[in-house]
Amino acid sequence: MAKATYSFPRGFLWGTATASQQAEGQNINNNWSAWETQPGRIREGHKAGLACDWWGGRWKEDFDRAKETGQNAHRLSIEWSRIQPTPDRWDEDALDHYRQMVRGLVDRGMTPMVTLHHFSDPLWLVDRGGWESPETPALFEAYTRKVVEALKSYVSLWCTINEPNVYTVCSYLTGEFPPGKTDLNATSQVYINLVKGHVLSYKAIHEIQPAAQVSIAMNYNGFEPSRPWFFLDTFLSNFMTSNFNYAFPMALKTGKLNFAAKRTSIPEAAGTMDYYGLNYYTVQKVAFVLKPKDMFFRRFFPEGSELSPTGFIANRPDGFFKAMQFANSFDLPIYITENGVEDPEDTFRPKYTVQHIHQMWRAVNYTYPIRGYFHWTLVDNFEWERGWTQRFGLWGLNVDTQERIRRKSVDVYARICKENAISSDMVAEYIPGLLPVLFPD
Ligand code: FCB
Repeated sequence: MAKATYSFPRGFLWGTATASQQAEGQNINNNWSAWETQPGRIREGHKAGLACDWWGGRWKEDFDRAKETGQNAHRLSIEWSRIQPTPDRWDEDALDHYRQMVRGLVDRGMTPMVTLHHFSDPLWLVDRGGWESPETPALFEAYTRKVVEALKSYVSLWCTINEPNVYTVCSYLTGEFPPGKTDLNATSQVYINLVKGHVLSYKAIHEIQPAAQVSIAMNYNGFEPSRPWFFLDTFLSNFMTSNFNYAFPMALKTGKLNFAAKRTSIPEAAGTMDYYGLNYYTVQKVAFVLKPKDMFFRRFFPEGSELSPTGFIANRPDGFFKAMQFANSFDLPIYITENGVEDPEDTFRPKYTVQHIHQMWRAVNYTYPIRGYFHWTLVDNFEWERGWTQRFGLWGLNVDTQERIRRKSVDVYARICKENAISSDMVAEYIPGLLPVLFPD
């Protein structure tokens, strides 16, 4: 096999991504903590509980782990319900807690990227209609200002909203997330309000910190027609691609939101992305089915796909390249804000990770302006409606004892971060089966 090193540009950011509700623990004032008390909402009745106990202070040891294994960046999120526990109160202690966390990163020589909204909403906001309400964008702006004023000495890389597409579809169309609605009108309204909320937040951040880099993190799910010769499959996969993958970021580019066959002009949204934040996990086939109750389609991984242990993700690094191609069409710097796989035994993750990072290396060499990569995630965390049944951490977590379990992936990723490269030596040591794929003679 060839001996080679696939290097990344100097200053490339290598980190992991996390979210408040999934890692902090002890969140009792948001819609997810309420949701998990309802029977049947979370697999096996799991609860977030202490999660990774970051609110109890274990972020320090986990940031040490990240630092010691070569990471120079970290993406985390702020919990709105902690900062603003009731509409008329700001919690300065909570702001201070986050200030210590981001300072903790800077002290370790790591660049923080801070997300302001990662799926969870304060209960009081939900009582006022959540993101269906036209008042919410302005409330989000007020919360943004509070956070940015508090953290601006340490943070200049901001993500306003994580995966507005996943949030909206799962909360208002498929009903897997709270409030569990299946209502197309509500879905469209929430999409519009999220665009507006992002815009107000984007502008507020720039007012406070003119040099800030602000954007969203967009989930890109590769859709492929199951039968490419069948126009209904092709129509459906194109429809999903444009509504799910394209609509939101295009609105932030052009000021026009084309979603669910409706065109909404939001001119103030044009030009409100400073970078493209890309979350990528997988590709799915789409087929037309004659079943109105399934909305006439089926999504699935074809037989023979290399699937993750709980069947959640198919290993499709080529789909990652396509997603980066789309991201590149925006002519902005690109951050890979999430990518990873659930795998408790860690037999699949090393391969998945290296193959995806290899595609990112290809994209960098196609001169796509990719500036960093945040692996999902650092330590096993609470995976929304899938609870603890999915383990995405480089480190495993014993939820009862809080013990961290060092997986092989820690060392694989550490080698990549420290060498700023994928080397054939590393692959030979950890994933020899990949050598002929990545380093053919
Ligand atoms: C993404 C979410 C993130 C995590 C991963 C597995 O859609 O942004 O919080 O749950 O999926």
